[in-house]
Amino acid sequence: MSRLVVVSNRVILPSERIQRAGGLAVAIREALGRSGGLWFGWSGEINETPASTTQTASKGKMDFAVFDLTQSEFDGFYNQFANSTLWPLFHYRIGLVKFSRAAFQTYLAVNGRFAEMLIPHLKRDDTIWIHDYQLLPLAGELRKRGVTNKIGFFLHIPLPGVDTLAVLPGLNTLMRGLAAADVIGFQTERDLQSFKDYVRQEAGGIIGPNGTITCFDRTIEAGAFPIGIDAPAFATLAEKAVDKPEYLQLKEGLGARKLMIAVDRLDYSKGIPNRFEACEELLRTHPEHRGAFELVQIASPSRTDVASYRDLRREIDRLSGRINSAFSEVHWAPIRYLARTYPRQSLAGFCRMAQVGVVTPLRDGMNMVAKEYIAAQDPNDPGVLVLSRFAGAAAELGSALIVNPFDVDQCADAMHRALIMPLDERQARWRTAMDTITRNDVKAWWTSFTTRLRAVPARAAA
Ligand code: G6P
Repeated sequence: MSRLVVVSNRVILPSERIQRAGGLAVAIREALGRSGGLWFGWSGEINETPASTTQTASKGKMDFAVFDLTQSEFDGFYNQFANSTLWPLFHYRIGLVKFSRAAFQTYLAVNGRFAEMLIPHLKRDDTIWIHDYQLLPLAGELRKRGVTNKIGFFLHIPLPGVDTLAVLPGLNTLMRGLAAADVIGFQTERDLQSFKDYVRQEAGGIIGPNGTITCFDRTIEAGAFPIGIDAPAFATLAEKAVDKPEYLQLKEGLGARKLMIAVDRLDYSKGIPNRFEACEELLRTHPEHRGAFELVQIASPSRTDVASYRDLRREIDRLSGRINSAFSEVHWAPIRYLARTYPRQSLAGFCRMAQVGVVTPLRDGMNMVAKEYIAAQDPNDPGVLVLSRFAGAAAELGSALIVNPFDVDQCADAMHRALIMPLDERQARWRTAMDTITRNDVKAWWTSFTTRLRAVPARAAA
């Protein structure tokens, strides 16, 4: 079988510990570690001189090649266009979108740099799989430079509806680059539908009866391939966490109180303020829960050079302070908000301990924490997942308590219901969810996408 070359902006090098780098990098590391191949991307480092070579490493069946970005590349590509234009737009936050033509040009140029730095590593029959919104036009940049290998692309974040997409200046340039791939994958049918709507309404393309898409003078395939986790491995990680110091410290701190857990990158798409307001509403409408539970919110700081992320942090600091000062007792505070990163095993243990998992993003491509929370549960005494209908995971996890995160009262009701749910109902809901995430695991995602990509006809060399 041809070698797989995975390209993503974020790479977890063998020397790095898996912290919460986001679901994407964790999934790639798990799957590529098994199948073998090359992982190519940004080193995570800034260097004053533009990189002329890549740094390489190997571990098991995986090879790594990464390169540094300069400060101005990092600013224009990562801080500005990727994370101040595309990220808010694709998460339906038009009000937060900042567009600058200069940053857009840098984004395109850095995608060109990814192509130039990758090409010396490519073999003729490699299959290339590009990941996520940072690298939307990379397939086009590779084709411009004569690459004829099969290229797949997977979007880990939502693709918004066409009216929202159309806000973006330069949209067709990006999409033309994207359409240079052979297979394009999305998290959900809804994202796939947005793509088809875009193709028909904005790009003048055609959707064939068998689902193939013709646009920008090419015929491509597109599909929904929901990403998963390695559920048994996460369950084992959670089981083994129960005698670790951090688990024991949290348990001791809680005493007889119930735990509601939330684990996110500190990102405005995750709906942390709405969640805190729902907690406040729960305390107001159900005084019987006062002193009887704690919401532990772990929020790992992310993209801290971007103003909207710093603003969010201030907002959450203020909100948690306000709610805690209103409801705390000398021996108890309702919200324990930890703006830091925890090792993956500690998070698995916290999920296992928690009677309620609150995963209420305002918009999310998939949200792997929802699946990890399910995987971490004790089958004899499982907790309850409260899940946003706007997380991609809701399409698979219908047995969770599904909420609209903008409806604070509804979220508060769901938290209440989760806290008092009887064991037999918890077990039935959990079993259904566990069966789904075990079936639709990371291996199924990986295999279904790569099989589809490898099956496309080879192109003639340019
Ligand atoms: C999300 C994105 C990934 C990204 C991750 C972490 O999961 O889909 O592409 O890598 O967040 O964000 P960061 O900006 O730190 O790479």
